[in-house]
Amino acid sequence: MYEGRFAGQVALVTGGARGIGAAIGQRLAKEGAQVILWDVLESTLVKTTEEIRKHNLHASYEVIDITDKVAVAKGIDHIIKHHDRLDVMVHCAAISGPTSTNIVDYSAEDFRHLLDVNLYGSFLVTKYAIPPMLDKDYGRILLIASIGGKEGNPGMAGYAASKSGVLGLVKAIGKEYAHTGITINGLAPAVISTPMNLDTHPDMLEYMTDKIPMGRLGTVEEVASMACWILSKEASFNTGFNFDLSGGRATY
Ligand SMILES: NC(=O)c1ccc[n+]([C@@H]2O[C@H](COP(=O)([O-])OP(=O)(O)OC[C@H]3O[C@@H](n4cnc5c(N)ncnc54)[C@H](O)[C@@H]3O)[C@@H](O)[C@H]2O)c1
Repeated sequence: MYEGRFAGQVALVTGGARGIGAAIGQRLAKEGAQVILWDVLESTLVKTTEEIRKHNLHASYEVIDITDKVAVAKGIDHIIKHHDRLDVMVHCAAISGPTSTNIVDYSAEDFRHLLDVNLYGSFLVTKYAIPPMLDKDYGRILLIASIGGKEGNPGMAGYAASKSGVLGLVKAIGKEYAHTGITINGLAPAVISTPMNLDTHPDMLEYMTDKIPMGRLGTVEEVASMACWILSKEASFNTGFNFDLSGGRATY
């Protein structure tokens, strides 16, 4: 923990109600940021926001579906009206969709929905977060991708395809804004212990854990720790890069 690393900064965390997003939101707030959490799970959002505020830290929330273009645009406007700046945007909202399902059994509707949430959502939140950052010539954007997008876990075609898309998005837009004060990076964790995995079949979880040389799941605190470095001012010469966090699984 680095006290005051985000003092005076405003940080948006999508998917901030629980799991990785909640852990990153909590850590950003502990390190001095004014944190805004977006999610669709209102009661969980309220609890997470109250938990942060309990420690006299600054947090607020808004129920926003990141696939809704109008809601995303309005949400960013709302942040600028209230705080006059947006320094950090971490995009964690996503779904894993059908798991343990081969492509022939994977419904076309499920595939389209997954791309809508995981890829189109990443496009939208980034598209609308950049203009206010450009106004101040400073910003840190982090899109949470997945090892599944690098390697493709079987039975998760939609998730793998959507996360490969996120990796590509990071590479392209990182270069688009490399000459500004905005950095745009991705983070591709292996399996992390969060509510997202509750519905994953135990055989699938075992398959993913067996591929990790450290032989265990990652923790949300480990993700938050790395994310907060990428989001800090210190990380000034990194952009368009997809970082690894995989207990030794990805060595490339
Ligand atoms: N848990 C893992 O093993 C793992 C591994 C690699 C990558 N990731 C990625 O990390 C990120 C966070 O995952 P997590 O494990 O914390 O999952 P999670 O399910 O605990 O949290 C995801 C959050 O996103 C929210 N969300 C989903 N759809 C939304 C929408 N349309 N609009 C707004 N919010 C929405 C959910 O309500 C939930 O609170 C995701 O991008 C996920 O793909 C997770």
